[in-house]
This record gives sequence, structure tokens and C-alpha cells, in this order.
Amino acid sequence: MLDADRGEALWSAKKGPQKVSLAESCDLGKGVGKVDGAFAEMPRYFEDADRVQDTESRILWCMERFQDFDSAAFRKNPHPGGGQPVKDIGAIATFISNKSSGMKVASKADHAKEKEAIALGEALFFRRQGPFDFSCATCHAESGKRIRLQPLPFLSEPKEAKQVVGEWPAYRVSNTHVMTMQHRLLDCYWQMRLHRLDFASDVSVALSAYLYDRARDGEIAAPGLKR
Ligand code: HEC
Repeated sequence: MLDADRGEALWSAKKGPQKVSLAESCDLGKGVGKVDGAFAEMPRYFEDADRVQDTESRILWCMERFQDFDSAAFRKNPHPGGGQPVKDIGAIATFISNKSSGMKVASKADHAKEKEAIALGEALFFRRQGPFDFSCATCHAESGKRIRLQPLPFLSEPKEAKQVVGEWPAYRVSNTHVMTMQHRLLDCYWQMRLHRLDFASDVSVALSAYLYDRARDGEIAAPGLKR
């Protein structure tokens, strides 16, 4: 739980010219500073940002808005290299996700923009792209598929999505540090030889919105442990 503990300290740390913490400024959808159950309802539409955001995107947005965080360097390199600890936003996301552990995935699908994000995520999931002409479905739309020892869950199938999506952010047996969902998606885009998935981009949030919609009512057990 080291990363979640680090995230909790960062959530409460006063930063920026206003010396304000996220705990006293950031609304994750349940009211300013409220973390219990917030992750379970992500991604969701936020009126102040006028867009659908996942947990990581929302934390970044709050840091920019309330702590004057200059995200240029972070956006260029938002995820840790092998053996490096998860970056601050990932640690905060791990803390927030843990505060929904044991609850059910209940990502929002009411607002028109929430529905739009899920539909875009679905289209992206099945769209073939890149030099290999892969879609997410190439690797994730069949039961029992594997690459080496790694099982490839059938993510468009709610039964399988429910079993795995709620485990992110997750520790990997091969790595002592936690990996977030934004990082997971970037890695899968890399496997498709699509080199960029911009952090907090509409594409990244739409893919999450689709996956959490598929995993609806599945249990959240975050941070999880993955092979
Ligand atoms: C070339 C094959 C390939 C493609 C294409 C691919 N993935 Fe993956 N994906 C993997 C592998 C391999 C793993 C397991 C990786 C690991 O454990 O290191 C994985 C794991 C995942 C997981 C975590 C599953 C779990 O067990 O918790 C998610 C979520 C995911 N991929 C989403 C996507 C999405 C969304 C796309 C399309 C943008 C995509 N993947 C495209 C190979 C692929």
C-alpha cells in the first residue's frame, strides 16, 4: 500500500502559489475533498471542465486549476520507466481507487457526453489502426487467448471485463510499482505500434469509459495484483 499512502499524503499536501491542497479544492464528483466511492463513478462528466474525465485526468485538471501545476513536462512523460515508482498523479489515483475498493463499478452513463464517450470508446476498441492493422479487439475479443503466459481478457464481454477492470491501478508481479489505467492503455497502444496516447486525451478517457461501462457492477479491488 506504499503507493496509496504516498498518494494520500500528496492529496493533502498544500501546493502552488495559493498553498492549497487537493483535499480542500478538488471535487471528484462527490463534493470537494470527498474520496469515498468517487473512483467507482469514474469516468464521469464534470461541468466545470465541460468534459468527461477519468480519475487521473481529473486529478491533473485539479492540479492545474487549483495549484497552478505546469503540466508540460509531465505530459511529455507521464508514466514511470521500468523499476521507477509511479508518478505523483498515479499515486494519488491509487489512493483514490483504494477508497472505492469493495464497491461496484458504477461509471456514469447519464449525461449526453458520458454516453458519447462510451460510444467513442467502443468504436475505438474495434477500429483497426497502425502498421499491423490491430484493434483492441485483435487481442481482447476472444476467450482464453494468451500472449506467452499472460491471459488476454475478452474485454468487450461484460463477464470477463467485470473480473479484471476493477483491479486497476494494479501491481504487476514483474514490477514492484503500481501501474495506472492510463499507463495500461498507453502500453496496449504501444503494442499496436501506435506510439502516442496523450495523457488525459479524449481518446484515452473514451477507452476507459467503454471498459468501465463493460465492467459495470464488477467489484473494485484496487490496487490489484496482476501477472
Ligand atoms: C497486440 C495485442 C494487444 C492489443 C492490440 C491490445 N492489448 Fe491490451 N493487453 C495486451 C496484453 C499482452 C495484456 C496483458 C499485459 C500484461 O499483463 O503485461 C493486455 C492487458 C490489457 C488490459 C488489462 C487486462 C487485465 O487483465 O486486467 C486492458 C484493460 C487492456 N489491455 C486494454 C486494451 C485496449 C483498450 C486496447 C486497444 C486500445 C488494447 N488493450 C489492445 C495485449 C494487447
